Amino acid sequence: MKTRTPNPIRGARIAGTGSAVPERILTNFDLEKMVDTSDEWIVERTGIKERRIAAEGTVTSDLAKEAALKALDDAGMTADELDLIIVATVTPDTIFPSCACVVQGEIGAKNAAAFDISAGCTGFVYALSVARDLVASGRYDNILVIGAEILSRIVDWQDRNTCVLFGDGAGAAVIRPCAYGEGIIECVLRSDGSRGDVLVLPAGGSGMPASCETVKSKLHYIQMKGNLVYRFAVRVMVEGAMEVLEKANLRKEDIDYVIPHQANQRLIDLAAERLGTQDKIYSNIARLGNTSAASIPIALDEAARSGQVKDGDIVLLVGFGAGLTWGSAILKWSK
Ligand code: UT7
Repeated sequence: MKTRTPNPIRGARIAGTGSAVPERILTNFDLEKMVDTSDEWIVERTGIKERRIAAEGTVTSDLAKEAALKALDDAGMTADELDLIIVATVTPDTIFPSCACVVQGEIGAKNAAAFDISAGCTGFVYALSVARDLVASGRYDNILVIGAEILSRIVDWQDRNTCVLFGDGAGAAVIRPCAYGEGIIECVLRSDGSRGDVLVLPAGGSGMPASCETVKSKLHYIQMKGNLVYRFAVRVMVEGAMEVLEKANLRKEDIDYVIPHQANQRLIDLAAERLGTQDKIYSNIARLGNTSAASIPIALDEAARSGQVKDGDIVLLVGFGAGLTWGSAILKWSK
């Protein structure tokens, strides 16, 4: 598949990162009391030991705002310097206004435009790619990109196939100009809408508006054919990684760090084995579970703040999710 390379006048880099997770921890042992599952099954099949769950009254924009303020602080910037805010989420506070608009108002980014991106767990990579091209083209100077989710509100807590997997959180990054060839070097975005049914929230949209019947039938919760997503994910993680490496004119051996979407440790390990990057993976899935669009930016923030990702490192981000979508990015890390 061919994509045109835009005509950049400069590069775009991540100048600051931040993340936020709720305080409440839900362990596998807690889940054992809620559904027919076991710590042993969850750890063996997914690598997840616990996840964070937002308190009642907390909304997605609260987590997004906390991550955003940390990212701005890390970049040494104030909110009024922002030109644009993009939030990747499938759990906005409301269908409209967008979560990005709520964050814009809350942080006082009075000069910024704002919109959401819906690309499931790939959302942050999609948002990062859009931000990169807008900065590299010279259109904007300062863009705040956030991945934020409260998945616990759209999970059926009686469905063991899904409720053990997901958690809540937010991660953010500030994108600013840099020299051409530095920073976010290349991105690849892909989709296959013909397979959207394998991971879907059926009701609440124009196709199936909310009614007593949809609520009774639990159609406002995530429905997933886990096995099909698993097989799709392993394939596209490898394909997405290889495609972006080729675009960036790099080899697998050049990668210093891989930050994959944190969906399932077994899945991550299998893709890493196929890529030959087993010893370069950042994983926090045991602590946080799958936080969808927030998973990559939270992991990136943790890896950067702990010094595991260092200046000059070549970092691969790779994700997949509802849509179906997948995407990858190659960064030359410098802050
Ligand atoms: O971010 C993108 C979103 N989604 C994903 O990334 C999910 C990708 N898929 C996966 O991670 C895995 O497919 C799962 C973790 C969801 C499931 O693991 P699996 O090894 O593919 O299990 P399975 O679906 O093939 O189910 C095996 C068995 C079934 O029982 P039977 O039919 O063999 O008797 C399930 O009912 O495991 C059962 N099972 C459970 N047992 C205990 C499913 N969930 C649970 C559970 N506890 N929580």
